[in-house]
Amino acid sequence: MVVTGSRSFEASGRLGWLLERLRTGSADCLHSRVKGEPSPEMIDDAAAAGRRAGCDMVIAVGGGSVIDAGKAVSAMILQEHPVERYIEGRKDFIGHDGRKVPFIAVPTTSGTGSEATNNSVISRVGPDGFKRSLRHPAFVPDVAVIDPELICTAPKALTVASGMDALTQLIEAWVSPFASSFTDLLAFSGLEYFCRSFLRVCSDGADDSTVRGEVAYASFLSGIVLCNAGLGIVHGFASSIGGTFDIPHGVLCATLLAEVTRENILQLRLFGCGQRALSKYAAVGRLLSQRPELSDAGACDMLVETLAHWQHELDVPRLGNFGIGMEHIAHLAAITRSKSNPIELNPESLRKILVARL
Ligand SMILES: [Fe+2]
Repeated sequence: MVVTGSRSFEASGRLGWLLERLRTGSADCLHSRVKGEPSPEMIDDAAAAGRRAGCDMVIAVGGGSVIDAGKAVSAMILQEHPVERYIEGRKDFIGHDGRKVPFIAVPTTSGTGSEATNNSVISRVGPDGFKRSLRHPAFVPDVAVIDPELICTAPKALTVASGMDALTQLIEAWVSPFASSFTDLLAFSGLEYFCRSFLRVCSDGADDSTVRGEVAYASFLSGIVLCNAGLGIVHGFASSIGGTFDIPHGVLCATLLAEVTRENILQLRLFGCGQRALSKYAAVGRLLSQRPELSDAGACDMLVETLAHWQHELDVPRLGNFGIGMEHIAHLAAITRSKSNPIELNPESLRKILVARL
């Protein structure tokens, strides 16, 4: 089964080429197109079609949602129950046993790092909605084909949103209390590649496969570190807000990262217990601002300033653009959690972050 998303891969002529090559190689091939972020119903329908056709491999070519959809379909073709039974935190949860068909991930955006992760994010958006993971170590794609040529056609708004997701993942894993020397090495390397090339892929380097490749590499590393160190409160909001309002994941990360970083740094300073995390934020501040001479305090301030500047320069939408108002703030803050934020934020801090981005 070949899973793709919107029609851009088809319009480029590459889908026809891929299907033809697979069929020439005597592989029977089913094409499944998915739209938007994966829902339980979408996964159950595609898995049932794959089961009926006897699919023994899934290839997903597309952005993070398509990779997550393909990953979930590959995980469900050999299972009996609907996918919702296997999603963390859902009613009558049962642990997945890891049986799946092989899965090849071919990303066409640089953002979620899903080509390197062990989970697929599935949501049903609405007032009682959810956005949670289907997860098992066996779900890490068997093969990831990361080809910058496929990413060069991503439009600017998508490049910005997905890139800011990768940056958020790298920073949140870098400052996570569960970070290790292994994840630190990969996270900081990812941040270096990202900082060198991200602004260029959003402007004159959009067609440059070398520059695109550097951001793609950073995104891939962000997937490895998020699996091993966890994520912070931006991704806590991505789960709570993303399950309630129809907002692309990358846009949510892009709109919240600066304010969350500002509040985390403020609270770490107030409680005087977060020198390690503050030093790590400072290292990112020096990198993003290219000001290696800054003190830790100056570099933390510069980090917040640089992120806010990028947000403004890259035209990142605000929460209010998606129908979120003051009336939603208390509820959203109350349902937001993160086990791997560098400091536990109280509901007042969470509300403050959201209000600043309305
Ligand atoms: Fe993310």
